[in-house]
Amino acid sequence: MLTDLSQAGQGDVVLLHGCCHNPTGADISLDDWKAITELSVKNGFVPFVDVAYQGFGDGLDQDALGLRHMAENVEEMLLTTSCSKNFGLYRERTGAAIVIGKNSAEANNAKGKLLTLARATYTMPPDHGAALVKTILADEYLTNMWTTELSEMQQRLVSLRDGLCKALKNSHSTDEFDFIMSHKGMFTVLGFTAEQMQRLRNDFGIYGVDDGRINIAGLSESQLPYVADALAAVSQK
Ligand SMILES: Cc1ncc(COP(=O)(O)O)c(C=O)c1O
Repeated sequence: MLTDLSQAGQGDVVLLHGCCHNPTGADISLDDWKAITELSVKNGFVPFVDVAYQGFGDGLDQDALGLRHMAENVEEMLLTTSCSKNFGLYRERTGAAIVIGKNSAEANNAKGKLLTLARATYTMPPDHGAALVKTILADEYLTNMWTTELSEMQQRLVSLRDGLCKALKNSHSTDEFDFIMSHKGMFTVLGFTAEQMQRLRNDFGIYGVDDGRINIAGLSESQLPYVADALAAVSQK
């Protein structure tokens, strides 16, 4: 990744996922964030960090460690955050676009560009989702409820990943899928071919997309042994 990124320079924008990478679930480490930050400072590309699952990986603050390090050390950066998943507001189109500029004149230029884009695309945004998020974050009691529920969802994902790996280990004596445990957030890419994904669908009624991505949040405890059996069967050469 660093070899590829070292080709990027002035005038380039590099898009990164802040946490819980979609589709792979394979996140970069804090050391990786530091190395990419150094490369951005050295070569002059602008990082654009897309944060759609904050709180689903290791927790609200932990998931932002890498991008916070980056924001503190680069001169320019673009950041988009989404409240679709962590506030359950998918249909309300709620999030934020943040521009960090070298100085206030450059930040104002970027604001002008964003306002032109907004005018040309939606003109007047819906306010309901943003008003809900504002109500929650302005109130300590509601904020605590939200962080507690979010943390329960995060724990649920970790426990489903753990349960699936254990079921594969216990019933099929395989550690082939242990990488699922190291992945973060809702998604994992199984490394299956499109044909294997179709077998999962046709023979076992398990639906993932042909690139191998499955949604961990769509599993339930009681289905884990069945899913483990299916993965083991389909992974047989
Ligand atoms: C990385 C990433 N960014 C953005 C989005 C979309 O966010 P929004 O619902 O705010 O458009 C998704 C998924 O829906 C995503 O996986």
